[in-house]
Amino acid sequence: MTISTYPTVAIVGPGAIGTTIAAALHEAGRTPMLCGRTPRESLELHDAGGVVVVPGPVLIDPARAGGAVDLVFLAVKSTQVEAAAAWLAALCRADTIVCVLQNGVEQQSTVAPFVPGCPIVPSVVWFPAQVQPDGAVWLRGKARLTVPDVPAAGVVLVIGPHEVVQG
Ligand SMILES: NC(=O)c1ccc[n+]([C@@H]2O[C@H](COP(=O)([O-])OP(=O)(O)OC[C@H]3O[C@@H](n4cnc5c(N)ncnc54)[C@H](OP(=O)(O)O)[C@@H]3O)[C@@H](O)[C@H]2O)c1
Repeated sequence: MTISTYPTVAIVGPGAIGTTIAAALHEAGRTPMLCGRTPRESLELHDAGGVVVVPGPVLIDPARAGGAVDLVFLAVKSTQVEAAAAWLAALCRADTIVCVLQNGVEQQSTVAPFVPGCPIVPSVVWFPAQVQPDGAVWLRGKARLTVPDVPAAGVVLVIGPHEVVQG
């Protein structure tokens, strides 16, 4: 695995939360692969400071993923995890870290059946973001995640230490 130098990263579910994290990764020089169900050429994140455009495309066919990655951010809603299972199968090998960006306390048990053996990192998503009718996302606050203080969560700092708190 290459996580100590340049992890390969995918976002599954580039909606309000997924676009915000994709933009933070892009700004940190770690532009992720974008995996969704609605094709787009790019993602747009607006906030009080301006706009970030994350180059795509948003892939919609898991067969085009091109193999497993080091880190997957799963940002579909909890009710959509099963439907996104083909993405998880295409992107995960045994040591792929899966960081779940959802509300609720059942992130691990909801996702584990679809990523057997993979370390799963739950998170608390602190920021409000909204998808606009044109697909652009408005971030109304500071992007901030909390992840547990476990070794697997360290790779999530690839986003940038200011946005992610371990604890
Ligand atoms: N939004 C917030 O402010 C906020 C704050 C805290 C926590 N959360 C939590 O974050 C999680 C995500 O919420 P969200 O607001 O980001 O939802 P969202 O905007 O609806 O984003 C979900 C994304 O997943 C995509 N998707 C759905 N099914 C898929 C599939 N089978 N394969 C690939 N992609 C798929 C959707 O695609 P389409 O574009 O085709 O719909 C959409 O891009 C939820 O658990 C929510 O409770 C949200």
